[in-house]
Amino acid sequence: MSGAGPGDPYGKSVAGRTAYLILHNTSEVVTPDPEGRALIRIPKGAVVFKDSRVLEIGPAGELSRRHPEARPINASGHLVTPGLVDCHTHMIFAGQRAAEFQRKLAGESYAAIAAAGGGILSTVHATTAEREDALEKTLAARLERWRASGCTTAEVKSGYGLTPGGEIRLLELMRSAVQRVPTRVQRTGLLLHALPSEYADRRDEYVATMCDQVLPEIQRRELAVAVDAFCDPVGFTVEECRTFLTRARAMGFEVKLHAEQTARFGGAMLAAELGALSADHLESAIEADWAALAAANVVGVLLPAAALSLRQQLPEAAMLRASGARVAIATDFNPGTAPAQSLLECAALAARLCGFDATETLLSITWNAARALGLEAQIGHLNPGASGDAVVWECETVEELPYWLPAVRPDVVFMRGADLAFPTVERRVWP
Ligand code: NIG
Ligand code: FE
Repeated sequence: MSGAGPGDPYGKSVAGRTAYLILHNTSEVVTPDPEGRALIRIPKGAVVFKDSRVLEIGPAGELSRRHPEARPINASGHLVTPGLVDCHTHMIFAGQRAAEFQRKLAGESYAAIAAAGGGILSTVHATTAEREDALEKTLAARLERWRASGCTTAEVKSGYGLTPGGEIRLLELMRSAVQRVPTRVQRTGLLLHALPSEYADRRDEYVATMCDQVLPEIQRRELAVAVDAFCDPVGFTVEECRTFLTRARAMGFEVKLHAEQTARFGGAMLAAELGALSADHLESAIEADWAALAAANVVGVLLPAAALSLRQQLPEAAMLRASGARVAIATDFNPGTAPAQSLLECAALAARLCGFDATETLLSITWNAARALGLEAQIGHLNPGASGDAVVWECETVEELPYWLPAVRPDVVFMRGADLAFPTVERRVWP
């Protein structure tokens, strides 16, 4: 399984004007290069979109001459980048855990709160009790918020069901919610997230149920291309994760892993061993883990909002550079560790906490994030053939993306080569 994946609405028509456009009068067009290792910067560049894809990028004068038929769209002297990619969210849930956040700030650990019946299980109860139409509407509203902040693709994990029916329900609701909004969604089955209390003495049975019942059903209904597991003292052991992910991989699923979050536990090495798309969190990872990820070409995904909420350290950019690993940054949006609703703000924080430069920051939320979803052929850059997902930002240089707090906003978001007027905020007019 690869590429757009089942159910992905690549061909879905969107509101707005499609067909053949040239986006011109930019300050610069900035995109990852085709290998995703550096940025291409085209001062006063232009982008030509045709049939929902990028046809060409280059100097505006030259492209205007070559594409006289294309409808011009004026970028008002602003920065253009690819649409951002949020490669790790748990966006489908009900309720909130603000009171638990206060307990964490007062010093109680994530593990202690989970052991006392809070944590993931409390969101499972709230989500299970919520009506389908409310879950779907909330998810659609969140996806619209992501798009309006420049994030044109979001991964969404299940994981707050914890029963075969509960997990399938969430994945089905994701599929319906996507029909309401243009944001591209990559669905992931997070099937080993927390152990329901009734399985306390039957851990193997729970893992077997997910392998024998849920994986085949997800495949039959084409509900996800990737699966995930929480490899952690608070979650599942390396052996349990290996059993589950090995089965999934043999069935053709891509695999991902929550690794080294509350303690160093062996998840990063397992992700490398299995050739996972990504290993995510890594707050407790050491240099050897990053070296293993780099050698196996597994993206390391940093989740600064979760690290900050649990008052953990993020790794230093210098160490990450030396490892050679690809690094992505994501929101991890969830009600427990990361109530974070802006990917660019997460990246701006990570830039400060780790020491990333503007190139590394943009790569981590475009090409590398797309790679963490197996979608780098289509999204995360503006090279010819890429999906026409692009953002005109309310700033002029790529250095401003991690600079402003709160993060800069889009003037216009393009989805599949169509310009969607920014609906929620009046375009700013400075005196
Ligand atoms: O990525 N660590 C496991 N899963 C989530 C937290 C989910 C929750 O606390 O509800 C995470 O941090
Ligand atoms: Fe997560």
